[in-house]
Amino acid sequence: MPIQDEADILDTNLSVEIAGVGFRNPVIGASGCFGYGLEFSELIDLNRLGGFCTKGLSARPLAGHPPARIVETHGGMLNAIGLQNVGARAFIEEKLPLIRRYDTRVIANVFGYSEEDYMETIRILNDGEGISLYELNISCPNVKEGGIVIGNSAAAAARLTESARRLSERPLIVKLSPNVTNIAEIAKAIVAAGADALSLINTIVGMAIDVNTFKPRLSYGTGGLSGPAIHPIAVRMVYEVAQVVSAPLIGIGGIASAMDALEFIIAGATAVQIGTANYYDPLVTMKVIDGLSDYCKKRGISRIGELTGATFN
Ligand SMILES: Cc1cc2nc3c(=O)[nH]c(=O)nc-3n(C[C@H](O)[C@H](O)[C@H](O)COP(=O)(O)O)c2cc1C
Repeated sequence: MPIQDEADILDTNLSVEIAGVGFRNPVIGASGCFGYGLEFSELIDLNRLGGFCTKGLSARPLAGHPPARIVETHGGMLNAIGLQNVGARAFIEEKLPLIRRYDTRVIANVFGYSEEDYMETIRILNDGEGISLYELNISCPNVKEGGIVIGNSAAAAARLTESARRLSERPLIVKLSPNVTNIAEIAKAIVAAGADALSLINTIVGMAIDVNTFKPRLSYGTGGLSGPAIHPIAVRMVYEVAQVVSAPLIGIGGIASAMDALEFIIAGATAVQIGTANYYDPLVTMKVIDGLSDYCKKRGISRIGELTGATFN
């Protein structure tokens, strides 16, 4: 029998836990970039994925904004989809039974225009079998009510978190907006209000203008910037939030490789979400999982959790 490389026989444990929920590995598909998971079932092995977040679900179906809803930019993209989704009830009846065929964690991303909307969505989703956690989207920049309007105020975000926590039958992740002056202060208020975990960041408000028509290139006017361009901003924010809260963090923003994901983990994240990169490389989640495993094996790290918050230690 050939002698194995020592690195190969080291059992690298990529599993992580968020609010008492175990994940096979820390790689999660980000909301709005992973459909309802099923869209990726023929492209990747969903059973290898740590989990995925659904597109933002509202109590009733939403059509979203008219086109153009996406614009490519240097190192990223701007989007203003307007939260198009099938609605929480249709998600439970039509999507969940198919999703349950796969062995991966399902995180339902929840959106509302008002506190009552959010509560109604959670009430409906509480009946959905196979959802592991909720992710409260209080940071969508592409709507005039709800979303970012709540996420930009520590008091409003804390109030909504408290109500959602009371109603939720599952652990609650709250997704933070980067479009704020002091993300650490808002993170503290949300955790104090009962959030079980935080995910960050959502997109950064931007704008692109058509120089021929003198009009914004997105029908909504502004949009949310995502992709590699935002990665360093997101890493900095995870690092800042990790200094002031002890709740688990999920790092999001511009991940396109295992090294990008590792920066978040070292900055203090327990897990990561991958969004925009799925659009140009549908295999990216699998590549990041393999890359994390290789990195750990080469460095003799037996549990990826050892790296969380390893900065400057
Ligand atoms: C087209 C598109 C749609 C999105 N829809 C949602 C959404 O419904 N809910 C949400 O919380 N975040 C949504 N996001 C934000 C992403 O989940 C993620 O936070 C952000 O894009 C940064 O990660 P990335 O740079 O890897 O894309 C969306 C992003 C994009 C690009």
